[in-house]
Amino acid sequence: MNVAVLGGGIMGNGIAQIAATAGDDAVVRDIDDAALERARSTIETSLGRFVKKARLTVDEAEATLGRIRFTTDLEAALTDADVVIEAIPEVLDLKRSVWQTVGELAPEHALLGTNTSQLSITSIAVSLGRQAPRLVGMHFFNPPVMMRLCEVIAGTETTPEQVDRACEFGRHVGKEVVVCRKDSPGFITSRAYAILRLECIRMLEEGVASAEDIDTALKLGFNFPMGPLELGDMNGLDTFLHAVTGLAEAHGDRFRPTVGLRNMVAANRLGRKSGAGFFNYDEDGRKT
Ligand SMILES: NC(=O)c1ccc[n+]([C@@H]2O[C@H](COP(=O)([O-])OP(=O)(O)OC[C@H]3O[C@@H](n4cnc5c(N)ncnc54)[C@H](O)[C@@H]3O)[C@@H](O)[C@H]2O)c1
Repeated sequence: MNVAVLGGGIMGNGIAQIAATAGDDAVVRDIDDAALERARSTIETSLGRFVKKARLTVDEAEATLGRIRFTTDLEAALTDADVVIEAIPEVLDLKRSVWQTVGELAPEHALLGTNTSQLSITSIAVSLGRQAPRLVGMHFFNPPVMMRLCEVIAGTETTPEQVDRACEFGRHVGKEVVVCRKDSPGFITSRAYAILRLECIRMLEEGVASAEDIDTALKLGFNFPMGPLELGDMNGLDTFLHAVTGLAEAHGDRFRPTVGLRNMVAANRLGRKSGAGFFNYDEDGRKT
């Protein structure tokens, strides 16, 4: 199977890696050469970790990397695609403009999936015109190589056949699949988790407890593998701000971003990727 991944950032490179690990040929398309370079080195490092843990042999890791191409040429990326997964920034207009072009260039049989974490699939699909029923939400989690879930979302017009194909693809790349039958912003996961993280941010801003203690409380109190603040840093606070802004529009004020969150993003404290967020990180992304 040929899998085209649009966007080679945090999610795109991981999605390409899980597809290549499942034996697919993957191509990562980004508009930025530096992002492609980072994507390649992130995948290389990640495959190295799998080798260290004896979950892949050196030969398998090399073959997996060999199945991934990197390009800025959208047309070349889409020519033979059987599956297209878009993982570009969480901005509706940007996604719409990319999907409009993809609809013109992708083969007719290709499964079209968006990795949006909370935008309405239906409102992205509008840009595909009469091909709107082909678009399905395929929400992978960060990091895609480790996280076991793929949340499949049906847009209002998505055909049951595309939903089934998306589920099949999710299982093919080794994930458990859940289906969000109604296209409701935030789906199942992002909607529930956004409220939890926002409440943690509010507690931090109110001075109720330190970031460290809020995370420790949730980790040990509820058996979460990671605290909501540290996970926010890992996912990118700009992405979270986009997400809650959209959720507030859809579901009301309970999702309204705090002033502190807006300020952090304005100050480029985006989390691990910028070296600082709720916590500070060294050059290798380790919490300091
Ligand atoms: N970060 C997370 O934890 C997470 C989890 C699940 C889903 N998502 C969703 O995945 C998507 C991508 O998020 P991310 O965190 O990987 O973002 P990111 O900012 O790390 O990466 C986005 C990449 O897209 C590239 N890009 C921008 N415009 C493009 C275009 N027109 N064509 C191709 N590439 C383009 C950018 O150069 C960048 O490399 C978003 O919709 C986000 O909501 C993110």
